[in-house]
Amino acid sequence: MKTLEFANGDRLPMLGLGTWKSAPGEVYTAVKTALSLGYRHIDCAFIYGNEAEIGKALSEAFAEGVVQREDLWITSKLWNDCHAPADVASGLQQTLSDLQLDYLDLYLIHWPVALKKGVFLPESGADLVSLADLPLLDTWGAMEALVDQGLCRHIGVSNFSIKKLSNLVDHARLKPEMNQIELHPYLQQPAMLDYCQAQGVPLTAYSPLGSRDRPEGLKAADEPTLLEDPAVVAIATEHNISPAQVLIAWALHRGTVVIPKSVNLERQAQNLAAADVTLTDADIEAIAKLDRHRRYVDGTFWAREGSAYTLANLWDE
Ligand code: A2P
Repeated sequence: MKTLEFANGDRLPMLGLGTWKSAPGEVYTAVKTALSLGYRHIDCAFIYGNEAEIGKALSEAFAEGVVQREDLWITSKLWNDCHAPADVASGLQQTLSDLQLDYLDLYLIHWPVALKKGVFLPESGADLVSLADLPLLDTWGAMEALVDQGLCRHIGVSNFSIKKLSNLVDHARLKPEMNQIELHPYLQQPAMLDYCQAQGVPLTAYSPLGSRDRPEGLKAADEPTLLEDPAVVAIATEHNISPAQVLIAWALHRGTVVIPKSVNLERQAQNLAAADVTLTDADIEAIAKLDRHRRYVDGTFWAREGSAYTLANLWDE
């Protein structure tokens, strides 16, 4: 497994297990099977509502000697209702307690969007707090303090545009060490890739398989299905691999970390094996042509009437 090496020598396995949409009741088994298959990177978040069950799987795996804590990379994310500097540490403490860990490898600001304390998802504009009232740099300062205290080894962001990321890069004491964003052949984000490469900020690709299992309310009626894209299927057939393996191999080929979600043993094994797939230049050229700037997670749930958020100022495009 290829790893991404950080300035302090820590190594992040480039392929990890996504846990968004892994329901309580199935995520415990999913994490245990993934660890026995050899996954060493688990991507979590408070808002996924399943960290306590993941914690149970992790603590059992440690006790059974399947893996040691220091050989595992655990990422989680600060929820939007904890952006006030005074709330950031409690957001992390909840996650650490649920995951039964005493530190995280990586902690991310989940969205560049602030919610009132106690609000998980906004029902009206009044549930949101503008970034003018709660600047991301203030939240970031509290994230930096978590590193100082040894509660997380690295900090970063998620769903940040180049504009928002560069504001942190230019002004933060500790530079963000990750931007986790939606990336796949229909949303290739070349300018973000170039910016991050130039600045030395790694990227993690979420929804790399197109997240077909996301809630119906987040789906458009006419959306294209990435796993069934004829060009992806043709490359898979050519290599005698699955379309999911093509997508994962493509993400790794671009130098991005990738976190496909699966709760199924066979598909987890298949996805992990994609780390050994090499795509040809012709494959890469064919996939480059698929870009259509299509977001599966488009952020409309933040653009509530009466709030300061719009899709234009969320993505800065
Ligand atoms: P399952 O969890 O039942 O395996 P994403 O990572 O883009 O969010 O996509 C996750 C979705 O893709 C889930 O529905 C997951 O189903 C499915 N999936 C994961 N791995 C594969 C695979 N190798 N082939 C087909 N579908 C997959």
